[in-house]
Amino acid sequence: MENFYDKLRRIVEEEMEGTSPAHDINHVLRVYNLCLKLAKHERNVDLDVLKTAALLHDIARSKESLEVDHAVLGAEVSEKILKELGYPQEKIEKVKHCILTHRFRSENRPKTIEAKILSDADKLDVLGAVGIARSFILAGEYGQKLFVDMPIEEYVKQNLEGGKYDGKIIDPSKHSPNLEFETKFKHIPRRLYTEKAREIARERVEFMRQFFERLKREIEGEL
Ligand SMILES: [Fe+2]
Ligand SMILES: [Fe+2]
Repeated sequence: MENFYDKLRRIVEEEMEGTSPAHDINHVLRVYNLCLKLAKHERNVDLDVLKTAALLHDIARSKESLEVDHAVLGAEVSEKILKELGYPQEKIEKVKHCILTHRFRSENRPKTIEAKILSDADKLDVLGAVGIARSFILAGEYGQKLFVDMPIEEYVKQNLEGGKYDGKIIDPSKHSPNLEFETKFKHIPRRLYTEKAREIARERVEFMRQFFERLKREIEGEL
């Protein structure tokens, strides 16, 4: 008999068909694996809630728009799916909290250990070799350059809302993976909740720093 997680994975896979390769089912499965890894270093984790939330967290990703927050919609859609599958109501509430709070820019902060782990795992997936690969997929989708060489303060002033590092990108086509690294990725480790995630993040950021440094040197004909 098909087990619960296989069934859920199948539902998510069908629902997410056609989503950008940066946010598709493979992102979901990487986050799922990272969740299991992080959970080993924490106490009192409800693995049922964590695994279910990990599989469902981006189910509404393709519906994201100015009006729709995929975390809010995702929590609603997940409730419906889980009810149909006969999932216990008290756990549905816990899963919904994880999904609702998984994104960085939201005011909804994770309060439970499962929500903290999911949020951290989701952020780790934008770092390291995977993070670099994903950032170039997005660069292609937005018509960005391979590398933009300009002083970072100047860029922040020109293309981030309010001239702030955490401001929204005004024109995505003027952004680039190395600018994303400078303005966002390298600040991620100190914004994570669990110690193990911070440790993994620091190592992944260092790898990215070396990659973008080398990219610049190759572009300048130094290597
Ligand atoms: Fe998300
Ligand atoms: Fe995600």
